[in-house]
Amino acid sequence: MHFHRYEKIWLGFGIFSLVLFLSIVGVSAFGFNHHPTGGLDTIDPEKVEETPPFDQPGVKRLDENTYEVAIIAEAFGYSPNNIEVPVGKEIIFRVTSKDVTHSFSIINTNVNMMVVPGQISEKSYTFKKTGDFLILCNEYCGTGHHYMQAEIKVVE
Ligand code: CUA
Repeated sequence: MHFHRYEKIWLGFGIFSLVLFLSIVGVSAFGFNHHPTGGLDTIDPEKVEETPPFDQPGVKRLDENTYEVAIIAEAFGYSPNNIEVPVGKEIIFRVTSKDVTHSFSIINTNVNMMVVPGQISEKSYTFKKTGDFLILCNEYCGTGHHYMQAEIKVVE
């Protein structure tokens, strides 16, 4: 009789493990759908202009050493397309697209992000010297692709 009882317990444990396993897989799959490249926030591409921080695109000071830059990419340009940021401070770029896939690549830096509609691409960068930096789109996005650019002025 004891034997049967243990069997039941083990059977119960087996079912419990299976359910647990399936729910972990389910949750992971769900999470994966929402964060296709890991750690990215999603956004409704139709409502970019109403969704913070893109409702007020541009440079925003978060604290003494940190700035956030929200930029909207769309065929064929960035808004805003001319920004000024301080040298030696952490700049968190948050970029999204309203239409097709673009990129946000700051020449001579390691900032080179794909910008996919429905996602917020994020990259932190600290400029070590002042000067003008060019932002280019490295992802073919249509007839105006080659004209898609913006400028960052890094100042003291
Ligand atoms: Cu946008 Cu190429």
